[in-house]
Formats: sequence, C-alpha cells, structure tokens
Amino acid sequence: MDLFYLNPLLFLFFLPGFCAGSSVLPPGPVDVVAGKSVTLRVLVAKNTDDIIIWNFSDGKDQTNVGTLRSNTSQLNDPYKTRAAIDPSNGFLTVNALQNEDSGDYSINILKSSGTTLTGEIKVRVLVPVSNVVIKSDLDEAIENNSTVVLTCSASGSDLTFSWTNDTVPIVADGKRLIVTNMPPSLDGGSSKLTITGVLRSDLVGPIFCTAKNSLEQGKSPPFNLTVYYGPEDVTINPLKPSEYVTSNSDFNLTCAARSSPPATFTWYYNTVEIKASGPILTLKTIETQGFGKQLADYTCRAQNAKTKRVIPSSAVRFSVMEPIIDAIITSPTSALMAGNSSANISCRATSGNVTEIIWLKDSKALSASDRVVFSSDKSSIFISVLQKEDNGVYTCKLRNSVSEKEATYIMTVSYGPDPVTVNGKGEVEVDTEVVLTCSAPSVPPANFTWKLNGTVLPPKTTNLVIQKASYKDSGLYTCEAFNQVTGKTTVNTHTLSVKEEINDGLSDGAIAGIVIACLVAVGAFIALFFYCRQKVPNRSSNKHDASIQSPY
Ligand SMILES: *[C@@H]1O[C@H](CO)[C@@H](O)[C@H](O)[C@H]1NC(C)=O
Ligand SMILES: *[C@@H]1O[C@H](CO)[C@@H](O)[C@H](O)[C@H]1NC(C)=O
Ligand SMILES: *[C@@H]1O[C@H](CO)[C@@H](O)[C@H](O)[C@H]1NC(C)=O
Ligand SMILES: *[C@@H]1O[C@H](CO)[C@@H](O)[C@H](O)[C@H]1NC(C)=O
Ligand SMILES: *[C@@H]1O[C@H](CO)[C@@H](O)[C@H](O)[C@H]1NC(C)=O
Repeated sequence: MDLFYLNPLLFLFFLPGFCAGSSVLPPGPVDVVAGKSVTLRVLVAKNTDDIIIWNFSDGKDQTNVGTLRSNTSQLNDPYKTRAAIDPSNGFLTVNALQNEDSGDYSINILKSSGTTLTGEIKVRVLVPVSNVVIKSDLDEAIENNSTVVLTCSASGSDLTFSWTNDTVPIVADGKRLIVTNMPPSLDGGSSKLTITGVLRSDLVGPIFCTAKNSLEQGKSPPFNLTVYYGPEDVTINPLKPSEYVTSNSDFNLTCAARSSPPATFTWYYNTVEIKASGPILTLKTIETQGFGKQLADYTCRAQNAKTKRVIPSSAVRFSVMEPIIDAIITSPTSALMAGNSSANISCRATSGNVTEIIWLKDSKALSASDRVVFSSDKSSIFISVLQKEDNGVYTCKLRNSVSEKEATYIMTVSYGPDPVTVNGKGEVEVDTEVVLTCSAPSVPPANFTWKLNGTVLPPKTTNLVIQKASYKDSGLYTCEAFNQVTGKTTVNTHTLSVKEEINDGLSDGAIAGIVIACLVAVGAFIALFFYCRQKVPNRSSNKHDASIQSPY
C-alpha cells in the first residue's frame, strides 16, 4: 500500500486544476496479486454532501462500480458482494481480485458547489509467480562444440528474469552468453540463456533462474547439465623407460587422460594397433603379440565416446630384451703349435639378445693386432699364427642391458723348448751337495735328460742332485730338453769340478808318505826358488800357459 503514498508537492501542484485527475487519485498503476484486495485512496477531503461515483473500464466497456451519496454507498453487480466504498473518505476497496479486475478505475466527485473532480488509476491484477523451471534444449553437451539454450519459464504476470550460477549472477556478454527475454505478459513469461561453445564449468553451478515482478519472486530448482569434454592431458607412464626392458618382467605402461566421460584407451606399436584395452598395457600383452623385438615407439590414444575426440599420448621408446641365459665358447679342438697353427675362438649365447661382446685374455682386454682379428660382430676371434704368448685364459663376456654372462677357454699353444739354461756351482769341495738345475720354457713341459761326459744319467728331472760330490763327479754335464709335441730338443752344458781335499781319515803311513813328499817338495821348491831368482823374466809366460787349462 506504499504505492499510494503521494508526494505532497505533487498534491499541492495539481490542487488548483480541478480537471486534472491525478490530483484526485494517486498515480498508478497499482499492482495486486490475484485473490488479494486493493483499496483505492482518494486524495481530496470529502464533504458530507459530495457525491462520489466509481467506474471501471477494462479498455472496451465501462461499468459503474458504485456510488456514494449522503454517506450511503450503493454497489452494482458484480461488486455488491466484494467491494465497498468508505463513507468517510470515498475509498474504494475491491476484494478477491481476479484477472478481469485489471483495468482503469475512475472517480467522479460531484461537489455541492457544482464542480466535478475526476481521477483515474490503473490497477493490474497480477498472476502469482509460480512454476519457475529451467529446461535445456540439449540433454548433454559437448565442450566447445555445443550451443546450449536454457529456457526459464514461469507463470506470473509482468515477470522479469535473472540467471545465477549458484549465487553469482550470470552476466550476458552478448557474444558467448546471450540472454533473451520474452516481452512480459500477464500470465507468464520466459527467458532464454544461450551459451555458445559451452564450457565444462558453465553449467555445474548449479544454475538458478529467478522470475520476479513488482510484488513477488520465485526461484527455479537447481539445474545442471553435463558438459562432456576431453580427452586432454593424455599422459603415458613411465615417460622415459630404459631403452631395454627385461623380457617377462612385470613392466607395464599406463595411460591417463582428463576426460568426461572417462576415456577409453587403445595402444599402438609404431602405427600398428596392439590388441589391448584399458589404461594398462602389460609387457606380457606386448610379448604375446610378438611386439617388442625391435626398438619401437609405443603410444596410447585416449578416446571419448561422447566428444568423439581421439588424442594420442607422446611416444615412449624401448625394446624388449631377453636376458642372456648362458655363454658358450667354442675353441680349437686340435693341438696348437706355436709358429704353425691358428685358432678360431667363438662365443655365443644359449639364448637372449647380445648387444655387446667383450674379450679378455688373462683378465685384461684383448685387443686386435696383425695376428689377432675380431670378426665384424666380435663373436669370434681368429689368431694366426699362434705364438707362445697366446697361451692363457680367454674370456668372452656377453652383455645386454639386462644381463651379462661369460665363458672361458684356456688355450694351450705348444712351443719350445726354448734354449736350455743350466744353473749350479762350477766348482765344489768334495763331499758337498751339488744341485744342477736345468730349465727350458716349453709347452707342454719338456722332458729332461742329463748326461755326464756323454753318458746318460738316471734322473729325468729338472734338478740333478749329487748328494756327496766326489772327484769322479767332475766333468761336462749336458742337459737335453725335449718337447714331445713339437719334437724339438735343445741342449746346454755345465762344467763341474770337484776338488779333492786332505782329511782326518788318512792312515799314519799315508801321513808319513805325505810328510816325506812335502819335504821333498819343499826341497825341490827351495832349489827351484834359487833357480828362478836367476831367471825372473820367464815366470809370466808359465802363468799364461796355466790359464789356458780350461775343460774345452
Ligand atoms: C546435478 O548435480 C547433482 C549434484 O552435483 C547431481 O546429483 C545431478 O545428477 C546433476 N544433474 C544433472 C542433470 O547433471
Ligand atoms: C565439434 O566441432 C568440430 C569443428 O566444428 C567438428 O569437426 C566435430 O565433429 C564436432 N564434434 C562433435 C562431437 O560434434
Ligand atoms: C707346420 O705346418 C705345416 C703346413 O702348414 C706342416 O706341414 C708341418 O708338419 C707343421 N709342423 C708341425 C711341427 O706341425
Ligand atoms: C670362426 O668360427 C666361427 C664360428 O664357427 C665362424 O663363424 C667364423 O667364420 C670362423 N672364423 C674364421 C676366420 O674361420
Ligand atoms: C770326464 O772328462 C773330464 C775331462 O776330460 C775328466 O777329467 C773326468 O774325469 C771325466 N769324468 C768321468 C766320470 O769320466
């Protein structure tokens, strides 16, 4: 009823002009919800003998509502039961308003002075706000592609609509978001929200629509619409697997994507599809379908059944590596002769992929030379012509990124004997122990034969041991080294002289003999001494002769 408040200035301004209706009644229109009542106030004071006539016009016909005369009101059908004119001030009250009561209500006040005041006011009976609902032209939408038109409709008069995403007002930008309102009518209205290239976030608010008129407002139930999107951010894991993956291990690839509805996945080996489904591709699947033997790119493609988009992941590259189970070395079977034979040593794996072969000799890297030639794949080595230095332990190591196995071969190259050396003392006292050692490098080890002055001695060993040397052991010792395989013999000699010595075990007679012999010798020496004093220059030539007394 605040609407009936009148600005006093307006009242004063219009009071002198009797013909101006706006001074008699407040300005309209007056909105009233159907079923409610309205009281139309009169702005001029009423005198007891004023006659007041209320009329109603629906725009076509005018009907008389009622008349107040001498403080008595008289109402016409259909107002008799639901309207009243207040005798004290002439106010008209109409109850139980209906749509048909909308229209212009006019008043004529016949003053006792003879003047007539008239006024008119518009009354609008509004249908209450109800049935505010949002409907979509689509049941589901696709991000960026779909244009979604939401229609909010409501019953009610003279409605204006507003949209909110949850509680945030949706501001139409005239491009992506467009709001179109149907012209207001008395019994209902609608508003369209058009979203072009809908985004996933647009419609999950939920969305509400509010319809209101000057008297009431109504809010729709929450509305949301699934906007399908993706796949996007398609990721494969592990992103950087090692280049070689061990065969039969529990390795697998997983794929993930943001997508609504959730994406389905397909897998590719280079451009060939792998028969597998789901976000996990196991190594077993790869291997049972015969993939993996070569280095190749693996990708997954994420597909969205609703958006129909297919997005590939980045590619990961690896090959499946069978571990090496064992290494086998193949070596020459015949006897090898230095300076005459050659050897082919080869190495292979019982199973598995070999990516690297390393050859060692006596634990050190074996390198190629003019005699040692590696096959191009390094699986075999060919040594020609063999030399004694080639004897040793040969190892081949077979490697791949997931395993390593080795095998060894001990190569025996027959050679020699090399020149014999004989070691031992050249001069010994009688009865001492003498050890002569003969050596001559040889494979297989040489057989030795000892000889004294050309006569073969019993020992066949490297060492010749004479436990108590006697004078008769003096002589020229020969050591012969013989290699049964090469058939070669080498020889060297050694001279041993055993010096006789006077010892306590001699008889008295022998001692006496020796004493006499000494005396004779002393006598002879003295005689020689005096003889020589006369011929000193001859001594040096005698000494020279003595030094030539060698065994040879
Ligand atoms: C709207 O959202 C609610 C809860 O988030 C959900 O239960 C309902 O299914 C959604 N309705 C539609 C039409 O997507
Ligand atoms: C989405 O739009 C693109 C380009 O306008 C079109 O090629 C594609 O088929 C559309 N996708 C769907 C699922 O409608
Ligand atoms: C060395 O090789 C030649 C032929 O190449 C052969 O006739 C000779 O018997 C060989 N010698 C030995 C000691 O095996
Ligand atoms: C050595 O033996 C391997 C394996 O048997 C063979 O492939 C290769 O040709 C041989 N090399 C030579 C030089 O004979
Ligand atoms: C061997 O020869 C040397 C010199 O000819 C001789 O002195 C020695 O007595 C001889 N030894 C034997 C055991 O015959």
